[in-house]
Amino acid sequence: MKDKIIGKDKDFIVGKGYIIILGSEEILVYRGKKSFFALKNECSHEKFPLSDGIINEDKCSITCIHHGAKFSLNDGSVLSFPATNKIKLYKVYIKDTDVYIDIN
Ligand code: FES
Repeated sequence: MKDKIIGKDKDFIVGKGYIIILGSEEILVYRGKKSFFALKNECSHEKFPLSDGIINEDKCSITCIHHGAKFSLNDGSVLSFPATNKIKLYKVYIKDTDVYIDIN
C-alpha cells in the first residue's frame, strides 16, 4: 500500500474541492461534512474535468456538468448515462493531523 501525505487536516475546508497532482495523475480531493472523497479528475465519458461537477454528499454522487453523467462516490460506478465506465476513486484518511491518500 502506498500512502502519501497531501496536507494537514486544517488545510481542507468543508464543502470545497482541491486539485492534487501526484505523478502524472490529477486528483480531485473534496472534503465533505463527514468524510473526504478523492477521485481522478477526469470524467470517463469524454474526459472533461470532474472538478467542474456537482457533488451531492447526501447521495454520495458526483454529476459531470458537461453531459450529465452521474457517478457513485462509494465505488465509482456509473449511476447515469451517457458514461458507461466507472471513475477511479482513492481512499483518503486522517492520521494525527495529516491527510493521507492511498494512491494504489
Ligand atoms: S464528459 Fe462528463 S458526461 Fe460527458
